[in-house]
Amino acid sequence: MARKTIIAGNWKMNKTAAETAAVINELKGLVADVTDAEIVICPTFTSITAAVEAAAGSNVQIGAQNIAWAESGAFTGEISASMLKETGVTWVITGHSERRQYFAETDATVNARTKAALAAGLKVMVCIGETLEEREDEITNAVCEIQLRRGLKGISAEEMANIVIAYEPVWAIGTGKTATPEMAEETHAACRSVLTAMYGEEVAESVRIQYGGSMKAANSAQLVGQTNIDGGLVGGASLVAEDFTALIKNAL
Ligand code: 13P
Repeated sequence: MARKTIIAGNWKMNKTAAETAAVINELKGLVADVTDAEIVICPTFTSITAAVEAAAGSNVQIGAQNIAWAESGAFTGEISASMLKETGVTWVITGHSERRQYFAETDATVNARTKAALAAGLKVMVCIGETLEEREDEITNAVCEIQLRRGLKGISAEEMANIVIAYEPVWAIGTGKTATPEMAEETHAACRSVLTAMYGEEVAESVRIQYGGSMKAANSAQLVGQTNIDGGLVGGASLVAEDFTALIKNAL
């Protein structure tokens, strides 16, 4: 079964609403001819409305970078699924390593956030990945298996149609150190084996697994060219419309 490439820009804590609208207005023209990939931009919360308006009618979809597990209540600083739905976003990222590292995100909270998104009809990019120490200790596959099993606990085979996995080796994020295509492919294949054990082959073969970590126009072709790499979750190289367009077009 052919998996459609999905390339998403995670803009992290960058760009005001005005800057977001300007880049999306430029991007949507540059990628208007792209039909072989889903393109998603995930701006910061305060820029989402501007992003949704700028992207309207184009093939650029908009996502959020996080979502609360609760629907409402005393959760200072959090944004709920219904609040996000109202903005018009269709995607949300859960479990990004920066959330795990700086904001005490755990596999259990990733799981709860992912379920809240699915229940609201949002599609989710669930991030997993090992630290440098874990790679050096040769426990990369074990770490990814734990994050997958716990992060997806209780999520049904049917719901997996709305899930994309983003494998992001933590040591490759924002460092310029990309996993080699072979290294990334090995971990992607291992992750797909875990999905096979959890959901069976048909579901596992249909789930897209993105690579993230210093992906850029110069390496997207080799990375996305691997059998089990179905796209990218891109930080730095997604912030400039021309760079991100080149990254996307080289990958296809
Ligand atoms: P960079 O592409 O800047 O390494 O960031 C990757 C990332 O964390 C995307 O979520």
